[in-house]
Amino acid sequence: MDDRKKGLAIAVGGGAVLLLVVLALVGLATVYTGAYNIAATEEHTSLVRWALDTTFRNSIKSRAADIQPPRTVSPEMIAAGANSYKQMCEHCHAGPGVKRAEWASGMRPKPPHLKDAAAGWKAQEIYWLVKHGARMTGMPAFGPTHDNQALWSIVAFVKELPAMTPETYAALGDASSQSGHSTPATQNGRTKR
Ligand code: HEC
Repeated sequence: MDDRKKGLAIAVGGGAVLLLVVLALVGLATVYTGAYNIAATEEHTSLVRWALDTTFRNSIKSRAADIQPPRTVSPEMIAAGANSYKQMCEHCHAGPGVKRAEWASGMRPKPPHLKDAAAGWKAQEIYWLVKHGARMTGMPAFGPTHDNQALWSIVAFVKELPAMTPETYAALGDASSQSGHSTPATQNGRTKR
């Protein structure tokens, strides 16, 4: 009786090892033969999309959990953030009354409209994502080129987006050149109020 149990355990263990070896070989074959279609003209299968989305969300949420956002947000921060947003984010993420650039619709994943998506994120999560970016998505890291003050200004602006009208959106941004804030307002020749 005991011997039969032992035999069964060995058979199950052996089967599991064999299965792992087969899976590893299938994985390697997929990498080397080019069988996996990476074209951005095709959507991910729903399983791959789920795995990537869930990894994306949970990775950001766990890393941002201990970050303290600034206690207050000033109108100057929002204006400076608007200026940066229009220079660095709008072509991918659109804005109230403004479409994303044509080429950005060809990205997979397609960058979401932040007017809709921003409400689902806490300030510190947006901060973490904008600072570090996300590999294999097309979402760039702005931390290497922007200081914390500039990053929190962008966050302050993005948090305003869900409730923002196209009129307010159009009016904001250029005005920040008056505040002397972080992002050089003259970079795009945006010096007028
Ligand atoms: C080149 C295009 C591109 C630029 C520029 C870009 N992003 Fe993104 N961003 C993406 C893509 C693609 C995703 C989606 C990642 C995913 O869903 O896996 C994303 C995701 C996000 C998200 C999470 C939205 C969600 O719910 O999935 C936020 C917030 C965000 N970006 C903010 C910004 C901000 C703020 C800027 C400017 C400072 C910016 N991004 C610039 C491509 C871009």
